[in-house]
Amino acid sequence: ESYDMGGHDTYMHKEISEQADAVDRVLRGRIDDRFATVHLGGLNLDAREARAVRRVKILGCGSAYHAGQIGAQMIEELARIPADAEPASEFRYRNPVVDPDTLYIAVSQSGETYDTLAAVQELKRKGARVLGVVNVVGSAIARETDGGVYVHAGPEVCVVSTKCFTNTAVAFALLALHLGRIRDLSVADGRRIIDGLRRLPGQIEEILRGEERIAKLAAAYADAKSMMFVGRVRGFPVAREASLKLKEVSYIHAEAYPASELKHGPLALIEPAVPTVAIVPGDDLLEKNRATLEEIKARSGRILAVAHVEQEKADDTIVVPANEPELDPVLLGIPLQLLAYHTALALGRDIDKPRNLAKSVTVE
Ligand code: AGP
Repeated sequence: ESYDMGGHDTYMHKEISEQADAVDRVLRGRIDDRFATVHLGGLNLDAREARAVRRVKILGCGSAYHAGQIGAQMIEELARIPADAEPASEFRYRNPVVDPDTLYIAVSQSGETYDTLAAVQELKRKGARVLGVVNVVGSAIARETDGGVYVHAGPEVCVVSTKCFTNTAVAFALLALHLGRIRDLSVADGRRIIDGLRRLPGQIEEILRGEERIAKLAAAYADAKSMMFVGRVRGFPVAREASLKLKEVSYIHAEAYPASELKHGPLALIEPAVPTVAIVPGDDLLEKNRATLEEIKARSGRILAVAHVEQEKADDTIVVPANEPELDPVLLGIPLQLLAYHTALALGRDIDKPRNLAKSVTVE
């Protein structure tokens, strides 16, 4: 992939369109079918060390933090290691307890984000083991960490992250599978995840073929005064990232909430001018999510669902192919990148260079 626009009107559109190839690249040469696992050459964490990890803490900013949230869920689910993500910008200022049994992971597209780098440096000073999940090879965070996984998304020029976000989530799936197979993940489950990983590029192509309809939906929702994004568990980081993307590029105010928290406050905001984008994976929380759609409908809210099948209670549904439940978050966010893009286009925004933002924030 190059810096050439290749016929696209913006880098954002080019980068969204490149995602099937990008995911193919993060997988290439890493899958080991024989042992139903993956090889991550630069990890520098042997099996004994991996088994000794008691907790995983993932640090990043913005989209990288959201990809880290997806990663934390994957690591907990597949490797059964307690894991969570925190904004690096918060972590570095709160004098955190640095625990020798915790594996710290810094996530960054650029590898130069100052807050994330400062968190890594603070951790290193305190003797922690820190890995990187980074896109830019040889960047500061890649150099300062003890090892890690390159994301191989290729150059990302648009200020808002799209293909790197997706590839980072896939890189975390690889890491989770690797840790899982060293610990208690069965061969059968390892194979199930590998098969799912291989289906991703084709499914991404399928989602991107639906662009024309998403463009129409974007035009229909572009008059919103604010938008609510909701999801439960696997759907929540997807909602957060989609909300960030929409506000960055279209300047429409957007809020992301766990669907389960709506009734504890944000439901007061629901009215026809505040549509809700609901992330509805086909997992064991499907019925709970359907109940949420009903709650919103009962308050005259417009609903755009992102789901694997049409949602009766939604005004519109974007249907996304289903993969393995653990991998579905990788796919569910992609149509919402297109929604943000087409909303910004409809509103005449400067898509590749949104106001007030820089691609990487390398100063305090
Ligand atoms: C992405 O849409 C944003 N531009 C922003 O949130 C970004 O993800 C964040 O600044 C972190 O950048 P990094 O991945 O290069 O560290």
